[in-house]
Amino acid sequence: GKGWMTEHLVHYHGFWLTPKAALKGVMWIQDHFKPRPTDIFLATFPKTGTTWLKALVFAIINRTRYDFSDHPLLTTGPHDCFPFLDAYLYQNDQSVSNLDAFPSPRLLSTHMPYTLLPDSSAGSRFVYICRDPKDVLVSKWLFMNKLRPKELPPLSLEEAFKLFCQGISHYGPYWDHVLGYWKESLKTPEKILFLKYEELKKEPLVVVKRLAEFLGHPISMGEESKGVVQEIVRLCSFENLTNLEVNKRSLQKFSSDIIVDSRHFFRKGEVGDSKNYLTAEMIERLDEITVDKIYGSGLIFGT
Ligand code: A3P
Repeated sequence: GKGWMTEHLVHYHGFWLTPKAALKGVMWIQDHFKPRPTDIFLATFPKTGTTWLKALVFAIINRTRYDFSDHPLLTTGPHDCFPFLDAYLYQNDQSVSNLDAFPSPRLLSTHMPYTLLPDSSAGSRFVYICRDPKDVLVSKWLFMNKLRPKELPPLSLEEAFKLFCQGISHYGPYWDHVLGYWKESLKTPEKILFLKYEELKKEPLVVVKRLAEFLGHPISMGEESKGVVQEIVRLCSFENLTNLEVNKRSLQKFSSDIIVDSRHFFRKGEVGDSKNYLTAEMIERLDEITVDKIYGSGLIFGT
């Protein structure tokens, strides 16, 4: 499973993981992590809207603690407001005990497929977001080329397309990742809030209210009339976040060996931009795979 980066991906229980980071993360989680029923996981496949959702969840949960004009998100990147469980755990034993010391409810983000999480996490709550596979592929391809070492030639779209279609992608196959959470959300909707990037773009106010309710912090009538939902949406908008110094210039350190320029997490932030990159054949092929994969599941991508 090479191609995306210098590090090969390994196949583990049906998913493609990086041996250094992701696989170790899975091991750590399974061996050391003690989920609590009060934990709230933000579960995502890379490039589906993790950064946006981190900001939104943080802003919703902490909305009474901070003023919108002097908010931590104005000076701290979304990833730094929200621990990334997968990277947190594999670094060293110290961070495991740190995680144990976190007050409840803990907010934790993960890219782990639902089936690779420890069974005990079944009692926790999850927010999941999915996105049109075509947009995920293009977003990922451009992102990976930004991260690729200078001495390597850029990954071609053809190669990225081929790998993605075969399911060979970090935490992929993408469709299986989505379906894992989707099926679980049908069984236990009170445990898993299943969102779509496209829906969030189209009706952010509606989705934010739903999120707040799910997170146990429903928006009151008073807050609604004061425009709190609008403030949250504005604070976390692509336009606002991309124009902040912290997101333009800082480095995002997930672990000692995963360091990413923060601005790479903000590219275009739109629905359907993939049509500007993919050929008609690629679009047709990806749509075909998607129809095959989700057939009978009741899942529909997009709005
Ligand atoms: P594009 O490459 O299509 O622009 P992730 O955070 O999971 O890595 O996903 C990154 C994708 O989300 C990128 O998509 C990025 O531009 C987009 N994104 C980041 N912040 C956003 C925001 N506040 N609103 C909408 N989209 C956002």
